[in-house]
Amino acid sequence: MTKNVKMKKDMQAYWQSLPELQAALMEKIAADPWRLTYHQMPATGWLNDPNGAVQFKGTYHLYHQYVPETPNGGATHWGHKTSQDMVHFKEEDIFLSPDQLFDEDGVYSGSAFVHDDKIHFFYTGNVKHEGDHDYTYSGREQNTIHVVSADGFTVESREVVIAHADYPAGYTDHIRDPKVFEHEGVYYMILGARTRDNLGRILLYRSDDLYDWSYQGVFLAGNEEQGFMWECPDYFELDDSQVVLFSPQGLLPTTYNYHNPHTVGYLTGAINWDEYAFEPETDFVELDHGFDFYAPQTFEDESGRRILWAWMGIGDIEPEYGNPTVARGWQHAMALPRQLTLENGRLKQRPLPEYQSLRQHTQTHRLCEIEESTLKGEIYELLVEFDETPHSFELTLRQDSKLSYQDGLLTLKHGESGFGRRKRMIPLTDLSQLQIFSDTSSLEIFVNDGEFVMTSRVYPSPDQQMIHVTGDAQGQISYWDLKI
Ligand code: FRU
Repeated sequence: MTKNVKMKKDMQAYWQSLPELQAALMEKIAADPWRLTYHQMPATGWLNDPNGAVQFKGTYHLYHQYVPETPNGGATHWGHKTSQDMVHFKEEDIFLSPDQLFDEDGVYSGSAFVHDDKIHFFYTGNVKHEGDHDYTYSGREQNTIHVVSADGFTVESREVVIAHADYPAGYTDHIRDPKVFEHEGVYYMILGARTRDNLGRILLYRSDDLYDWSYQGVFLAGNEEQGFMWECPDYFELDDSQVVLFSPQGLLPTTYNYHNPHTVGYLTGAINWDEYAFEPETDFVELDHGFDFYAPQTFEDESGRRILWAWMGIGDIEPEYGNPTVARGWQHAMALPRQLTLENGRLKQRPLPEYQSLRQHTQTHRLCEIEESTLKGEIYELLVEFDETPHSFELTLRQDSKLSYQDGLLTLKHGESGFGRRKRMIPLTDLSQLQIFSDTSSLEIFVNDGEFVMTSRVYPSPDQQMIHVTGDAQGQISYWDLKI
């Protein structure tokens, strides 16, 4: 079989061996108390980016990077989950597999666009050629593929719309993660890219029919300070503003920002339609200040909300930190979906109100009444409302996770249960509210009604359920068990 004859890759052996491999993983997974409860996870094996997020004819679809046979990743498929309410999800059959010659080393990330009663998916077909390659400067193809589906489950057509060889000159082999939007009856696609001198770019294509795409130019360009590659670009209009969201790899850490190997952030500004370029009006703002948050994508649901899904994980974390679930047959999950709004020029991220349906057994206390045994839990939501910004406040959660506020700094620190995750900080003059979602092996901390978020995996030993408050803060604390 040669590469220029377009034949399907033979996946027969793969599909034959998969049930046995999955059964072995399932056995370990069944005994794992770190399996999450109200978060989305791989059934077995590995999960990374959310893909193709959409609400279509009432049903929410979430596709995701998925390698069912191993928790260590590899050639990704698009796993698929559906939901009627964004809280309860059903595991569906794998939607796309790396079984074509144009995507044989991974059905990489992409997005969904609804048009004329069909879903148009765009994704990156990753291909690695054999030979002595570094797969950045040579040896890799990243084709842009268009998939049409009338229902989100079956594929009507699947074809290359931009072949790797047709990308503009000056780039490495890393050009990927298409996102499509419409403006005045014309369709636009943005793609993340890495130049040959290692700068992040977002490229813009246009089309009149979603099938024929032509290159327009650089939509947004980064400098040496802004990372070597920009992944998963997203563009949307929100509350009369225009937002570009992307995941730069390799931003250097500053005192309080960009402490993960790769980060996520956004700019607001406006598209200059004469130049086909996005002109930022603000500086880059980091979206999450925790340890495990990457490659988000947004979609507008049928009620007009802008919802963000993100991978509650990140690549290249080792040797600093790790995920002990690998030994238990799986790795990674999605963060809770968040609703985005733009308020005073800044994105606010709030957990979807649908998740309030999981609340059970409310308890409310004054902070000063909390004693060591007042509250404990593993799977819960906690809401702390301060009467005024505290002087000093410390909340110890689960095994050894400490969230503290002192001298204008909000700090999240893990001990052993962080498996290498140590400390993240947010400088904060005012602290009015903390809303915390704890699941068996995750913590998501929303600060000041969605002004900041810290997302973290955490791996406490069994029965580590501490909720302990110290300091001089005045206010109220509400606690709910969450049950899915
Ligand atoms: C981001 C990313 C994307 C790519 C996908 C491959 O995490 O590297 O750029 O499409 O993951 O799994």
